[in-house]
Amino acid sequence: MQGYTVGAPPELLRVFRVLSLITAIANAGGNVLLLLFHRPIFALLGVPPPIDVPSFAFVSGFSFTIGVLAFLIFRATQVSTDLLVTGIVAKSIYSLFTFYFYTIGELHWLYRFFGIWDGVFALIFFFFLIYLVSPDLNVLNAGAILPGAERARGRSALLLYYSLTGNGQVAMQHVKEGLLRKGYAVDEKVVEAEEPLFRFPLSWRRFWRITFRAVFRRPAAIKPLGIPADHAYDLIVVECQTWFIGMAAPMEAVFEEPANRAIFRGRDVATVHVCRGLWRRTQAMTIRWLNRCDAHVVGARAYSNPGWEPARLFSLFIFLGTARECYPRWLCGWFLQRQRLSEDKLARLVRFGEALGERPCPGEPATLTGEVSG
Ligand SMILES: Cc1cc2nc3c(=O)[nH]c(=O)nc-3n(C[C@H](O)[C@H](O)[C@H](O)COP(=O)(O)O)c2cc1C
Repeated sequence: MQGYTVGAPPELLRVFRVLSLITAIANAGGNVLLLLFHRPIFALLGVPPPIDVPSFAFVSGFSFTIGVLAFLIFRATQVSTDLLVTGIVAKSIYSLFTFYFYTIGELHWLYRFFGIWDGVFALIFFFFLIYLVSPDLNVLNAGAILPGAERARGRSALLLYYSLTGNGQVAMQHVKEGLLRKGYAVDEKVVEAEEPLFRFPLSWRRFWRITFRAVFRRPAAIKPLGIPADHAYDLIVVECQTWFIGMAAPMEAVFEEPANRAIFRGRDVATVHVCRGLWRRTQAMTIRWLNRCDAHVVGARAYSNPGWEPARLFSLFIFLGTARECYPRWLCGWFLQRQRLSEDKLARLVRFGEALGERPCPGEPATLTGEVSG
C-alpha cells in the first residue's frame, strides 16, 4: 500500500484531514443513528419509511463503512492513497446512483442531500489524492524556482498560451513584463483552435458542447504551431485555463500532437494557470504532459479569479454568455464577481517573470520567492 506525508503543505493536510473527519462523523455516526432511530427521524422529516428494510440496512451499512474508511484517512500518519481511491469510488457510486434515482422518479430531499454530500466529498478526496501524489507540484506552488537545465542561455523566451476570454492573455503579459525587466527577449505564440466552436461569447449550446467534450476529454483541432524542435528559446512559459476541472481542450491539443512534444524536450519550462477557482488538476495535467515531453519544469503559478461562491460561478456563466462583466447592472457591486485576476495576482506574475529570468543555474540551490499559488 502506498502512503505519503511529505511534500504537501502541513496546513493543507490539516484542512483535508478535518474534512475527512467531518465526513467520517457524518457517514458513520449518521448511519448508526439512522439504523437505530430511522422511524422517528423519518417521521420528523416527512421521509417515507423504507419499503425494503433489509436493503435500507444494507445501504446504511455500506455508508457506515465509508465513514470508517474516512476516519482511517483522518487518523493516519501516512495517508494511504489506496484508501483515498476506495473512498472516491465508493462516494462517486453512491452519488451517481442517487442522481440516477432522482432522474427516474421521486426522491426525498434527504436522499438527494446525501447524494450531493457524497459527490462533494468524492471531489474533495480526489483533490486530496492529487496533493499526496504530487509532492513536486507542492514544492513549485510553494514558490520555488528550480535550477534550469544544463544548456546555454540566450536570454530569449517563448510564451505559449490559448485564451478564450482574455484572462490568461493578460496574465501572460504580466509574466512577459517581468522577463523583459530581466533582459529577456520574449516571443508569443497564441494557440488557435480550428473549430468555430471555441468562440467568445458562448451560446448555451456551445457552452454545453464544450463542457460535454471536456468531460469526455475529446481533443480539439488546432492550427500548427510552427515551432521547430531546435528553436533558440531557453525558456518556455506555458499557460492554460481550467475547463471542467481540467486542461482547456485547445491547450491540451498542443501536447496531444506528437510533433509538438520535441519543442519542450530538455528545455526549461514554467507554467501559469488561470481559472475561476479550480486549478490543481489542470496544473497537474499540464505538468505531467511536460514531464512526458522530458521538459525541465522550473516554476509554476496558478491563480483563481477573485470573489465568493456561488456568486463567482453565476458571474462566470453570465460573463461567458454575454462577454460583459458586471451585467446586469443591478447585480453589480454586491453579487457579480470579476472574471479577471486581481491586481495583486497580476503583480505577482510580474515577479514570477522576473524570478524566471533569474532562475538558478544547474548545481545552484532552488530559490524560494515566498509567493504561493492560490
Ligand atoms: C467551458 C468552460 C468551462 C470552465 N470550467 C471551469 C472549471 O471547471 N473550474 C474553474 O475554476 N473554472 C472554469 N472555467 C473558467 C475559466 O477557467 C476562467 O474563466 C478563465 O479565466 C478563462 O481563461 P481565459 O480568459 O484565458 O480563456 C471554465 C470556463 C469555460 C469557458
